[in-house]
Amino acid sequence: MPALRSVAAKPPDPRAAHALVIGDWGWSEKLGAETARNGNGFEAQKMVARGMERYARSSGIHADGLFMLGDSWYGELTGGAASPRWVEQFERLYPLETFACPVHSMLGNHDYQMLPPEVNKLEAELEYARSGRGLDGRATRWTLPSRWYTFDFPKRNPLVHVIVLDSNMPRPDGVWQHGHDFTLKPEGQAEQLAWFEQELKKPRTTPFLAVLAHHPVFSNGPHGDHPVLVREWDPLFRKYKVDLYMAGHDHDLQHLEFEGHPTTHFLSGGGGADLYVLKVDGLDRGPYAQEVHGFSHLSVTRSALELRHLDADGRFLYGISKTPSGKVSVLLS
Ligand SMILES: [Fe+2]
Repeated sequence: MPALRSVAAKPPDPRAAHALVIGDWGWSEKLGAETARNGNGFEAQKMVARGMERYARSSGIHADGLFMLGDSWYGELTGGAASPRWVEQFERLYPLETFACPVHSMLGNHDYQMLPPEVNKLEAELEYARSGRGLDGRATRWTLPSRWYTFDFPKRNPLVHVIVLDSNMPRPDGVWQHGHDFTLKPEGQAEQLAWFEQELKKPRTTPFLAVLAHHPVFSNGPHGDHPVLVREWDPLFRKYKVDLYMAGHDHDLQHLEFEGHPTTHFLSGGGGADLYVLKVDGLDRGPYAQEVHGFSHLSVTRSALELRHLDADGRFLYGISKTPSGKVSVLLS
């Protein structure tokens, strides 16, 4: 882990471009009642959503995007794209009044499920985006044009080119998993990998390049490092100098830096699902890991990208700043 210098944290710059980020958020009322670890229902999801709203208001920022890092629907999505959960647990919980911006989504393992058995949740999520249906006749902000895609952030005068990937890989030996829980087929895995490198080869037009997906490449949480992503994606991150990788999947908040590695790994999986116990202490490999519900905030100007982890009340937990040349500093509150 490289030694990082520290700088005093300033309040977020309202003139920067802002995205709020959550992962592992669409908790199931039924699972909540069964485990009772997370309060009944989806209390933690509601808490984090309200904390995000309060944080956006109190810091005077206008969100230019929400990045939702997958595991959007735990449990059953009865009715698919017409499920009432879309209104209750998405459109209303992250309301247009506060977040008048695109919601860039991606696919987690809980989205790759047939649940109930007649509903393919992944197809339902793509269909909900295509349908454009939102709340009260308004267009939805849900953005998921395909399983992997790119966008520029913010839309006007972009500062970050973002590549969204599908991290639902077949087993490390290439065997496709199918049935109730399924994954990409090996053909899809190869197609995406070739597409990813083609995207990385394109000339850079923004100061920063970010990759988003659901599964971490490296994680101090119980899922640990991902053997397929370490083998296939990490060499490309290094070769093409990806500035930032964001993911969720482990239900905690983390920041990982590796000596000589151009990529900052900032993990945000505290959006509402029950918390996990960390496997590796953030002090041993990090510099930061915490089992806590919360969300993250990306703010970007031409000269720096800032990343913050906030708890469910919107309180600052941890943050960093990174320059286009790759210098990372920890923000001291
Ligand atoms: Fe997950």
